[in-house]
Amino acid sequence: MSEFIIKAEHISKIFNKGRHNETRALDNISLEIKPNTAVLLRGPSGSGKTTLLTLLGALSKPTSGNIICLQQNLSHWQEKFLTGFRRRHMGIIFQNFNLINKLSVYDNIAAPLIPLPLSASEIQTRVQKVSALAQIEHRLTYKASMLSGGEQQRVAIARALIQEPEILIADEPTAHLDSRLSAEILTVFSDLKKRGKTIIIATHDPALNGHPLIDTVFCIKDGRLEPDHVC
Ligand SMILES: Nc1ncnc2c1ncn2[C@@H]1O[C@H](COP(=O)(O)OP(=O)(O)O)[C@@H](O)[C@H]1O
Ligand SMILES: [Mg+2]
Repeated sequence: MSEFIIKAEHISKIFNKGRHNETRALDNISLEIKPNTAVLLRGPSGSGKTTLLTLLGALSKPTSGNIICLQQNLSHWQEKFLTGFRRRHMGIIFQNFNLINKLSVYDNIAAPLIPLPLSASEIQTRVQKVSALAQIEHRLTYKASMLSGGEQQRVAIARALIQEPEILIADEPTAHLDSRLSAEILTVFSDLKKRGKTIIIATHDPALNGHPLIDTVFCIKDGRLEPDHVC
């Protein structure tokens, strides 16, 4: 087994390169993430957390540098291969949940399975399993639009788990939640770590400071990692 599940080597990300609005969102970032750990990317708004998450989650490619994930160097892969890689290995929880409001919770969770050759009963088994893990099994027949913020967050977690990914990526997962719900969601993540997942969370929420779930903190400021992880 390799020492790391994801490694970033000197990655930079420049948006609108060569134009008047060029932005260097990430500048020469190197880091390693060990399997079955929970990692926090911390930093103020605009520091580059979401950009770094999208690179670690194979949602976009660095302008320079390498992303090595599960022994594959993804940096030069074509988009269609990255999409397949992402579907097999990454569960991604977006900041705004990206749920389909008019669909039921069940259908939202099952949606990523639609392209796969699975029977209805296999899909049902999987939805039941992940909705239990995310503690949302009591709302499967509700429409997504009828849920509270905390419940929507749980649906997004269940949907991210449905393809049994090794790596879970969450952007500001506690942003819409009060402190009690935040604590509950962090318990869900702790449970998932116990089951072997690697978890990467970007946040500016101080509630995650010193939380027992977190093994490693990377502090980002102006697109750079702060030395000695101090922030
Ligand atoms: N798609 C994009 N196009 C242009 N600039 C972007 C894009 N995404 C992010 N940025 C810029 O990159 C910087 C980092 O943004 P982001 O990664 O979203 O920060 P954070 O998640 O820490 O708030 C910001 O200056 C932001 O405006
Ligand atoms: Mg962000």
